[in-house]
Amino acid sequence: MISKEKNYYIFLKKRYLFPQGEFEVKNNFLFFNGIDLNEIIKKYSTPLRISFLPKITENIEKSFFLFKKVMSEINYEGEYFYAYCTKTSPFSFILDKMLKERFKNFGIEISSSFDIEIIRNLYKKNIFTKKNFLICNGFKTENYISGILELYRKGLKNIITIIDNQDEIYKYNLKSDEKLNIGIRLMTRENFHPNLKNSRFGISEKNFFSFYQKNIKNNSKFRLKLLHLFAGSFLFQNENNFCIEIEKIINLYCVLKKDGSTDLDSINIGGGFPAKFSLDFNFDFEETIFKIINIIYLICEKENVKVPNIFTEFGTYTVAESGAIIASVIGEKNENNKEKWYILNTSFFSTIPNVCSFNKKYICLPINNWNKSYEEVNIGGLTCDNSDFYNKERNIEELVLPLKEEKKDLYLGFFNTGAYEEVLGSYSGLQHCLIPSPKHIIIDIKKDGSFDYFLFKKEQKEKEILKILGF
Ligand SMILES: Cc1ncc(COP(=O)(O)O)c(C=O)c1O
Repeated sequence: MISKEKNYYIFLKKRYLFPQGEFEVKNNFLFFNGIDLNEIIKKYSTPLRISFLPKITENIEKSFFLFKKVMSEINYEGEYFYAYCTKTSPFSFILDKMLKERFKNFGIEISSSFDIEIIRNLYKKNIFTKKNFLICNGFKTENYISGILELYRKGLKNIITIIDNQDEIYKYNLKSDEKLNIGIRLMTRENFHPNLKNSRFGISEKNFFSFYQKNIKNNSKFRLKLLHLFAGSFLFQNENNFCIEIEKIINLYCVLKKDGSTDLDSINIGGGFPAKFSLDFNFDFEETIFKIINIIYLICEKENVKVPNIFTEFGTYTVAESGAIIASVIGEKNENNKEKWYILNTSFFSTIPNVCSFNKKYICLPINNWNKSYEEVNIGGLTCDNSDFYNKERNIEELVLPLKEEKKDLYLGFFNTGAYEEVLGSYSGLQHCLIPSPKHIIIDIKKDGSFDYFLFKKEQKEKEILKILGF
């Protein structure tokens, strides 16, 4: 149904608090973090991927600020450490900038031997230095262990290897005579697979203490520094979840401290902090941080144990809000007069594939036509796959967008798409129906406050695709 009201902007203002945060509208064009998206479209044309780096800095600094604020308010005597997770978005332009901007209590979390190459590269360029810490998570293959030991021998002593499976201890024992800093990951409840009780990662609560006593306590090759917990977004979904999981790890921490684990001084609460994926987003970061730190503080006080330093590995929270995809509507379809389709000049598989595989929801807004009438639509990508779409099913509520004027462009944006989309899609590789990867523009802010744009990657060409295919 076409609405009688004429103005999309008025419609959106009635639906949400709008303008808000990173979004505002000037002369009927959308601005994202102050960036005139219409200008970008004129300069680069669609489809395009954007990474806005200042947002990443802002989120990292916000986290440091809030953790430190809460810690000082309750006289918490531990420190806060921030790990950037490569798995969320491992691009050089992010890692270079974040490591240059901040080195105190700042480090990187990696998950495989392939990540080791990134650290080698950054260390060679003196961007990752001995001041930064490295958390090595994930399954330890022989190559991964060799890579960790090689970095250690090169002088990066600030590495904490997280024991994810019990046999990793034996693998290290065989390969190394050095004394390594380790953490142990505590298995959490499973929240993704309904048929499983526990996550497959880490060591169960039941086996934890005996594993420690048998393998680590009197082993001169290991220095237990940290207990690790990762429950992902599940941890922050409600207070009950984080109370249970945090209490579990901090109780273990106190048991180990009382058992004489002198080097143990930190806990790592992993990732899972939320990012804004809807215009209704409302999450009290400070309150949540306060509740978590307070639980730790109270348990340690009761047990008469010095409070631990706190590490986090916030992935989605850190980078999601830096990303956007901009595309043009190049076709319309309404065969049964009930379901109107807008067809884009790209596909969701080539841009934000998690929409197709995990039903991931994003903020979808028009770039132009804010003064035009509107209606509910479905958006289809260019592939022939029926999961290449975006509509109310994926948008939480009805997806309402302005009408497209005949022979004029309508541009749409999907926002806060900066986490996991490039790594879980085939960035610049093969895409469904061979729809190419869009160009990728990096935006930063110069010292004088103006925007600095650069083209990181051109749109994929047919020739590149044929080369991958062996033609
Ligand atoms: C060990 C670990 N840390 C941190 C993260 C980042 O999680 P998120 O993006 O939910 O913050 C992940 C994600 O899989 C992870 O496995």
